[in-house]
Amino acid sequence: LGDGPLTGKHILVTSGPTHEPIDPVRYIANRSSGAQGTALAQALTALGAEVTFVTGPADVAPPENVKVVPVQTAQQMLEAVQTALPADAAIFAAAVADWHVQGASDRKLKKSKDGLPTLSFAENPDILATVAQMKTGRPQLVVGFAAETNDVQANATAKRKRKACDWIVANDVSPETGIMGGAENAVHVIDDAGIEDWPRMSKADVATKLAARIAQALAS
Ligand code: C5P
Repeated sequence: LGDGPLTGKHILVTSGPTHEPIDPVRYIANRSSGAQGTALAQALTALGAEVTFVTGPADVAPPENVKVVPVQTAQQMLEAVQTALPADAAIFAAAVADWHVQGASDRKLKKSKDGLPTLSFAENPDILATVAQMKTGRPQLVVGFAAETNDVQANATAKRKRKACDWIVANDVSPETGIMGGAENAVHVIDDAGIEDWPRMSKADVATKLAARIAQALAS
C-alpha cells in the first residue's frame, strides 16, 4: 500500500451481483459485471486505503491489495459486511438481488408430467439501508449506487432519502447505454448539496474521481 490521503482509513466496498439459489444447480442473478466496484476498490487502494472487498460472483477479477470476501447471496453479503465493520466509509456498489427464492430446494428440481415448478419469492435484507441506519458504529460516509432505467435523478434522490445514505451514485443502465457490463459509465452524484452530473467517462476514471471525492469527505 502506498501512502496517500486515505492512509489509515478502512473502507468497505461491496461489488458484483448476488446469486440466489433455486436449487443446488440453478440460481437467479443479474447482469452486474462488478467492473465499477472493482475499479473503485483499486482507486481507493491507490490513495492508501485499507479496503475490504465483499464481492458476489463477478465477471472481472477482484483487485489486488484488498481483503477479498467472496459471497453468493444477499444474506451472505449482509453477514460479511457486518463482520467487516467498523469502517470509515462503506461503498455499496453491489447489485444485490431484491428477492431470494423462498424455500429453495436442496435437491435438483426435476421435470414432471404433473406440471411446471412455481417459484415464490421473499424479500432480501437491504444491506445499504441497514448500515446507513445503524445507531452506533455507522461509518462516517455511506455511499449507495442506483442503477435506474428511467427518471434516473428523481428516483435516485428519493432512494438517498429512503435509505438514509450520504451519497447516491446514480447511473442509467438502459440496454442502449451499454453501461452494464461495458467499460464506461455516466453518473450523477447526489448528496446533501444537490446533484452533480458527471460526463460519460471510463469506469476507471469514475472510480478515480469518486475515490478523490471520498478522500476529501473523510478529511473534512
Ligand atoms: O434499491 P436499489 O437496489 O436500487 O438500491 C441500490 C443500492 O442499494 C446499491 O448501493 C446497492 O448496493 C444497495 N442495496 C443493498 N442491499 C439490497 C439492495 C440494494 O445494499 N438488498
